[in-house]
This record gives sequence, structure tokens and C-alpha cells, in this order.
Amino acid sequence: MDHLVDATGAGAPAPWWKSGVLYQIYPLSFADSNADGFGDLQGIAQHMEYLQWLGVDAIWLSPITVSPNADWGYDVADYCAIQPEMGTSAAFDELVAAAHERGIRVLIDFVPNHTSEEHPWFVDARSSRSARHRDWYLWADPAPDGSAPNNWLSSFGGPAWTLDETTGQYYMHNHLREQPDLNWWNDEVRDAFDDIIRFWFDRGVDGFRIDVCNIIIKDAELRDNPPATPDDPPDVQMFGQRSVYNANRPELHDVLKRWRRIADSYDPPRLLLGETPVDDAATLGAFYGADLDELHLAFNFPFINAPLDAAAMRKVVEHVETLLPDGAWPAWTGSNHDMFRFATRWAGDDPARARAALVMLLGLRGTPVLYQGDEIGLRDVAVEPPDLRDPLGVKYWPAYAGRDAARTPMPWNHASGAGFTEPEVAPWLPIGDTERNVADQRSDPASMLALARDLIALRKQSPDLNVGAYAPIPAPDGVWAWRRGDRHAVVVNFSDTEITLDRISGRILVGTDRARDGERFESPMHLRGWEGCVVRTD
Ligand code: GLC
Repeated sequence: MDHLVDATGAGAPAPWWKSGVLYQIYPLSFADSNADGFGDLQGIAQHMEYLQWLGVDAIWLSPITVSPNADWGYDVADYCAIQPEMGTSAAFDELVAAAHERGIRVLIDFVPNHTSEEHPWFVDARSSRSARHRDWYLWADPAPDGSAPNNWLSSFGGPAWTLDETTGQYYMHNHLREQPDLNWWNDEVRDAFDDIIRFWFDRGVDGFRIDVCNIIIKDAELRDNPPATPDDPPDVQMFGQRSVYNANRPELHDVLKRWRRIADSYDPPRLLLGETPVDDAATLGAFYGADLDELHLAFNFPFINAPLDAAAMRKVVEHVETLLPDGAWPAWTGSNHDMFRFATRWAGDDPARARAALVMLLGLRGTPVLYQGDEIGLRDVAVEPPDLRDPLGVKYWPAYAGRDAARTPMPWNHASGAGFTEPEVAPWLPIGDTERNVADQRSDPASMLALARDLIALRKQSPDLNVGAYAPIPAPDGVWAWRRGDRHAVVVNFSDTEITLDRISGRILVGTDRARDGERFESPMHLRGWEGCVVRTD
């Protein structure tokens, strides 16, 4: 496929995943083509024109493979077959072909840390201690008092170990007990996943988003994790322990390198985008590999978790700018299927803040990843019993409502069913209010959708904006401004107060106040509260 020219001066071609914009699709909630209330592959294929119109370079599909849905696809029972409710194998090939015809690459979710308990490997593994696949999973004897082998906790709560009564040993699961963790020390597991990777690449898939790729290897001695201390970040303190021995182990880099070699052996090379939930940029940097021979892109969780505040955001981004290895390329996202949506979480449902956040996200150096609905400023939808679907919401309601709020169906229009499904069909999750929908916003040049599309288009046209360097511009408190490349800048006012910015003059290209697009200004530049724009500088 084509490569764009890198205008950083080096003249080297920039691969598409550096210059482009990615878009996450949560297939269960994108579009329901067969009126069963669940989104499916054909539904996605039917909206390819929209994705091309929006201008995204690639889609990442959350899991579409066979799963009993204990964790909605993230518990895989067959890595090489499509979930029947999602469509057929042919429908997948048609989707890939339809995307490629429109110049859109397709990434799929790859879940190597754990399988479903219904995966034939695990069904066999738990059948006896001498089963063929026993060692493909992590088994350990009970402690002398019968309790779990060590103190590891599941990131979904409770111990990370469940006793298998039949064989008298515990198996390890970092998530639900229905999601047993694989033993990545076992070479047969590695070989089996090599085959799975090749299966999808041979089928034309352009890359993977790799689920929790930072935790695949566990300490071989299963040592206890140390307790959290008051110096740890709040999430670690709340968790109660530091995940030293069940996450971020040094040996996992061998596995990432192995996958990268496979990805690089294809023409064109396939993309590896990792889910890397770590707290600091230095740890994050390691996932690219010291020789840039591991992940191409690694999601930045400190950015997702930062408040929508100029100083906080700038700090996260500048840590990345300084701590990532030379040549490593950041990835930025505001929402995904596990977090509350940025229009709510960052912007508190205030449209002006959501627009400012979008300018930031699409103005950074690094690959932006939009989550379906971000482009229309979609907010969280309050989901309550009995509608909850996420096992975490079901377990923790009302203390924590789980992740359904960000997984509700895409509102394509304001009709009953929202264009997601037929009016008489009950969608798998409530749709919420349809005031913000694609059809209305597509015909409104002042909409968030129009802003998203215009920012994406601008980014695409301008090498400064897609691959140009980041350099901060001195700005008053509450404002974050940065140059991109030689002739562009992004300025965002993260406050309610009108501000002025010195030492910048030029022309506004696209901004939150669409009436100012094209406006020339001299220093000092005036910005209203929560105004943000991309500027061509003099
Ligand atoms: C990742 C997924 C999340 C899933 C978990 C277990 O964090 O994004 O949805 O529940 O892994 O697979």
C-alpha cells in the first residue's frame, strides 16, 4: 500500500500508521444488519462509506472471534473462527475487501494473555494433571492451608487464582475466572500463536491491537507481589499491591520481538498496536523495544487518565516526548471500550470542552485513535440493572457501573433504533438519547462531526501536522500551545477565561469556533474560553 512522504526534512517515507488516524470499532454496538439487536460484520461493511468520508486510515475491530461472551469477546474460544452472531467467515473477507477498496486498513483485536475457559485447550488442560495442554496454562498447588498459591489479585477484583476441584490445583486468571491465563513460558503456546498471527495476516488483516500485552509473562517462581505504599499512584494504592511479578516482566519483550519479526516478514509489514496500561512513559517506552523491534504503537494510559487540564496534559505529552526511545511513535486516545467516554470523562458533557479536547487529540505528534462516537461527541449512557451487560457492572453495581456506559450502540440517526437496529428490535444495550447522531451532524457544518472530519483532513494534507515535530510555545496558565513542524501550531485554551497569546501570528485553519476558520491574526492572539485551533504560522 501507499506510503506518504515524510516532511520532517529527512525525506524518508512515513508509514501510514504514523501519518494516519485510527478508529476503534466496538462491533457489538456499531451497526446491526440482521435485526438481532447486536452489531455485526455486515453492519460495519455497510458503513464503510462513512468511515472513508470521515477520513480515517484504519479501523481496529474489538473481538469478532468465537466467544461465550463472559467478557464480550475478550474470552476467546476459537482464535481463527468468526463468532456466528457476528457473521460468517465470508462476511469478514468482504469487510476487509470493502475497507481496502476505500483505502482503509483493518486491524483486529488479538487476545494472547488468556483464553476462554471454553477454549478446547483449557477444556483439555483442566481434564487431568497429565492432559496434553495442562502446561499451556498456569497451574499451582494450593498453599499449605489450602488457600491460593500466592497473593496476586485479579485486575477485575478478588484473587487471581481459582481452585480446580477436579485436579486439586489452582489456575491463574488475571481477569475473570472464565479467562484462564496462558503459560507463555511454554514454547508450544508461542508456536500456536505464531500460527494464529499468520492465519490473520495471510487473510489480509493489516495488524493487531494486542490485548494487555504487558502482562503475558508471569514470574516463573510465582513470587508474591509487594504491598502498595503511600508513594504509589492512587490506582495502585486502591488495588493494594504493586503488580511486580504478574505484569511488565522483562521476558515478555522476547515475545513482542517474535511477533514483530512475523509482522515485518509481510509485505507490506503489518502493524502491532499494544494495549499497554502502565503508569509512566519510561516503562511505556520499553514496549517499542530498545532497537524499535517490538510494538509500533503503544497506547498511553497516563494521557487517558489525566484530567482535561493544560498543565496535566502537557506534562504527560512532554514525558513521552522526552522518554520514548528515539524514533518511537506515540499513540493518543481519549476513549475506548473500557473507559468512560472523553466527552463525559474529560469534558463533563460540555460540548465546548469536548471540541477543545478533539483539537488537542488530533493536533498532537503521534497517532490519534478515535473510539466510535468520539467524532460526534457521544457521551456516556447511564446503564443500570437489569440492562447491565459488562460482568464488572453486574458484579460491582452500584459502586461501579462497569464499562457499558461507553459501549452503547452508535446513534446513526434519531429514529427509533437510531439507525443501529430496526425500530421494533431491542438493542443489546440501551441506545440513550439520540440528540447527538451521525445523520444530523453530517449535514451541519458547525457540528463536532464536521470539526472531526476537517481536522482529520487537515492533518492528512499537512506533513507538519501528521509527522512534524512537537515544540511547546510559552503560554499563560490554562493554555497549552505547541508548534508542529515548521509552519503549524495548535493552541488550546483549557479554561473558561478569555486569554491572549503573544509571539504568534498567522492564520486559523480549523478551530472550535468555525466562524474563525481562515481568519488572519497578529500577535497577540485572542482565544475565548475552551477555544482551540490549528494555525498556519507566519
Ligand atoms: C483488555 C480489554 C478489556 C478486557 C480485558 C481482558 O483490557 O480491553 O475489554 O476486559 O483486556 O481481556
